[in-house]
Amino acid sequence: MIGKPVGIWGTGMYVPERVLSNAELEKMVDTNDEWIVTRTGIKERRIASAEQASSDLAYHASVEALANAGITAEDLDLIIVATITPDMAFPSTSCILQDKLGAKKAAAFDLSAACSGFIYGLANAANFIATGIYKHVLVVGTECLSKITDYTDRNTCILFGDGAGAVVLGEVEEGRGFRSFELGADGSGGPLLTAAGGGSRNPISQEVLESKKQFIYMAGKEVFKFAVKIMGSAGEEALRKAGLDKTDIDLLVPHQANFRIIQSSLERLSLPEDKCMINLNKYGNMSAASIPVALAEANKEGRIKPGDTLLLVGFGGGLTWGATVLVW
Ligand code: ACO
Repeated sequence: MIGKPVGIWGTGMYVPERVLSNAELEKMVDTNDEWIVTRTGIKERRIASAEQASSDLAYHASVEALANAGITAEDLDLIIVATITPDMAFPSTSCILQDKLGAKKAAAFDLSAACSGFIYGLANAANFIATGIYKHVLVVGTECLSKITDYTDRNTCILFGDGAGAVVLGEVEEGRGFRSFELGADGSGGPLLTAAGGGSRNPISQEVLESKKQFIYMAGKEVFKFAVKIMGSAGEEALRKAGLDKTDIDLLVPHQANFRIIQSSLERLSLPEDKCMINLNKYGNMSAASIPVALAEANKEGRIKPGDTLLLVGFGGGLTWGATVLVW
């Protein structure tokens, strides 16, 4: 990384109270707990209430991250929100969050890179601080995927959950912080994972609603193959750019999409399971929120110590991918 050393000052997370279990899903679609657990590793997920939108989840996670970082909302120079389930088309969820937090001097923008969005957000934030443009940046991954999930489609409804994770970034001492970023995209794979209704291509209409284009469509097998390949290669590339090796990793924080995808990443990186943060059993896939929630939970559980080397790696719709190596 060029410029000032940048790291994470504080982490926060929030998940809605309502738990949706596999047993409940058994009553909604033709599935069963055994299939879901063996194919995905997911046991339950959280679901936002009818009143809750992504900015509400983001607010709680941000308040915790600010407290953990020891700064106030008024200290923030910039807020970046990664989400594919914004409160509305505009204003941006980051502007809504800025107002809720009272972060009066912060600029704010949203970023859309699906499940890789949080890593894309970190890369943006780190550059603003490394170049001296800003001092304190809040990066949030927040999703209410339940609001764009078709609960009659067993291929997708078992996978997704709602939640938010947040981090505060600032300058850190030499030798700490972000060492590398590896970001990528392959737009030709876009149709494999999409919610095509409601935008300027397919504005909301009776026809769009009847064809269920407002909901997530996923070609599961193809996405699975892409994920297995890219999680390994993006992780290895981030390590190479950082001048580090697989053996240097103290904790892997992967996107929480499917336990089998995480397992294959562990094999590729020759890492034991205890060097990996896994919480998808409790929360399912929360897209942009998965990595920051896993990071915040690992931090809360005392699994990260000063000087530890972390690898964060994710993939998602776009198709996109992102990985970063940082020293805590
Ligand atoms: N319960 C029971 N059976 C099911 C279910 C279910 N919930 N879902 C599918 N099946 C059936 C299928 O219909 C299929 O039956 P068939 O052989 O008679 O056609 C059978 O189970 C096997 O289906 P596969 O698709 O082969 O199952 P697979 O092992 O690929 O697992 C899964 C499916 C879990 C979706 C997997 O492909 C996966 O995890 N893909 C990646 C998803 C992902 O990571 N998305 C991340 C991005 S999300 C984002 O960016 C918003």
